[in-house]
Amino acid sequence: MRTALIAGNWKMNGLQADATSLARAVVSAIEPQPSVEVLVCPPFVHLAPVGEALKDSGVRLGAQNCADVPQGARTGEIAADMLADLQVQYVILGHSERREFYAEDNRLIASRCEQAVAAGLRPILCVGETLEARDAGQTEAVIAEQLDGVLGILGAEGFVDGVIAYEPVWAIGTGRTATTEQAQAVHAFIRNRLAAYDADFAERTRILYGGSMKPDNAVALLAQPDVDGGLIGGASLKAEDFAAIHAAAARG
Ligand code: PGA
Repeated sequence: MRTALIAGNWKMNGLQADATSLARAVVSAIEPQPSVEVLVCPPFVHLAPVGEALKDSGVRLGAQNCADVPQGARTGEIAADMLADLQVQYVILGHSERREFYAEDNRLIASRCEQAVAAGLRPILCVGETLEARDAGQTEAVIAEQLDGVLGILGAEGFVDGVIAYEPVWAIGTGRTATTEQAQAVHAFIRNRLAAYDADFAERTRILYGGSMKPDNAVALLAQPDVDGGLIGGASLKAEDFAAIHAAAARG
């Protein structure tokens, strides 16, 4: 049985006071459930105060990226160790916005994942196709290439406690969500691909859906057998919406 994971990706939003008040609002809106893990991923500069606001709440802390090397001359980067030092437990890697706006490729993302795992963080590896790729019937080929580009280097044993997030690029921040059938089909494809590395690994690994997940579509998406949670952008910035999605995961 996989424990569901509901993760909020706050992206590059809010000043420190907004972040801490959102963290406090999330803590008071969420009713902790043993079957669901909850995580918020604020911008780097808000990690420490948000961590403080989450203290003893059961809501976990995540980051939105980490460096591909352990330390040293990498101006502007943040090492995985520095995140672990702030009680960060998860890190989002390979988000489509990183791939698109910062030209991150699979090789770089694999190195970031390696550093995350070495520091004891759990990577949340994002994969997803563009609308062009979907329309051209290339969805599975794109996802396979993104998964193998990282897992081919790390192997199942190198991706310990990692999480996969399926985020169709055309659904992110657009209000357009994958249908439950589309989501389940790709999630099943991903699990199958993971099984080529190791059957237990495939069974154990959580696969999150991301892309305009909202309280009104979360129940149906989270009820799919291979959807183990959500990576939520826009709706995670409203504590009540995020809590409603969490409640849907507790029911599913
Ligand atoms: P969204 O973002 O929920 O706003 O579509 C999801 C994500 O990019 O992680």
